[in-house]
Amino acid sequence: ASTAATSVSISGDISSQLHGGYHHPLARAWQAERQLTKSMLIYPLFVSDLEDDETLIPSLPGQYRRGLNKLVPFLEPLVRKGLRSVILFGVPLKPGVKDALGTAADDPQGPVMQAIRLIKQRFPQLFIVVDVCLCEYTSHGHCGILRDDSTLNNQLSVDRISDVAIAYALAGAHCVAPSDMNDGRIRAIKLKLIEEGIAHKTLLMSYAAKFSGCLYGPFRDAAGSVPSFGDRKCYQLPPGGRGLARRAITRDIGEGADIIMVKPASQYLDIISDAKELGRDLPVAAYHVSGEFAMVHAGAKAGVFDLKTMAFEVTEGILRAGATIIVSYFTPEFLDWLDN
Ligand code: PBG
Ligand code: ZN
Repeated sequence: ASTAATSVSISGDISSQLHGGYHHPLARAWQAERQLTKSMLIYPLFVSDLEDDETLIPSLPGQYRRGLNKLVPFLEPLVRKGLRSVILFGVPLKPGVKDALGTAADDPQGPVMQAIRLIKQRFPQLFIVVDVCLCEYTSHGHCGILRDDSTLNNQLSVDRISDVAIAYALAGAHCVAPSDMNDGRIRAIKLKLIEEGIAHKTLLMSYAAKFSGCLYGPFRDAAGSVPSFGDRKCYQLPPGGRGLARRAITRDIGEGADIIMVKPASQYLDIISDAKELGRDLPVAAYHVSGEFAMVHAGAKAGVFDLKTMAFEVTEGILRAGATIIVSYFTPEFLDWLDN
């Protein structure tokens, strides 16, 4: 054996020999700091105010807008497969529901408020996150209340959005997640949660680093929330704004966020990593948004790559960057894929 050993010639340093560490599939899985599990996944649901609605969203492959009557039958098999959490988005389709103040957002008979109560009753183990914003409910489609010059009135918006968040929490949401980007809304929501005596049982997840760009298109088709004029560049972050994102993350941690979210995900892995560094003592979530999801589908359809392989590669990138919670339209597929 000793002659065999000495006859082996190794070019370079002995530390160059890495292959042995990842020859076996299990050994390859061990190379990851974090492996994807079902409990990391939050699945987005679009809930419309037409009770029997079940409409495919063309730009969001395989995703539907559903009315209240379609929710339970849809969720049943997913919960059986291990679905742990959903995030709800309300989609008012009835005419005349939208106004300048987004009054319908917390209508007790509106789709989100009803869906919270229904899901909570039928699936008591399912963790219910509710997206908090006004853009689905405002006639102008912006994420707050506007001034006469069409810019956001931050104070009025924060007052209103924090009221909406409290309504969702009182209806039974486990987590409220403001995605509006108005300054100071985390603090306002936290204070009202405390005032209501429900701060101890309501998780506050901040879309702290939410960037503007072209990746929310399919979502806005689904939710009917395209702004009627202008864009969201004066409240969502500019794509190059790493410093701004760090300031927003630090601010929202200081204002009482329990979880920090980064959105979109794949284009902003450095921001996820920053969030983990700045918020090392709290979980970081990433939203693999509608445009990213549609892009993976389009690439797979064009034969550029295999859908499942890419879905995992993207997700592994997000985990590697530091997120341990992922909002993903691939959740139903992952529930199957993670079994095999
Ligand atoms: C509402 C909201 C949006 C998304 C989540 N919450 C749209 C937007 O800000 O325009 C995007 C999610 C996705 O694209 O999947 N403010
Ligand atoms: Zn919005």
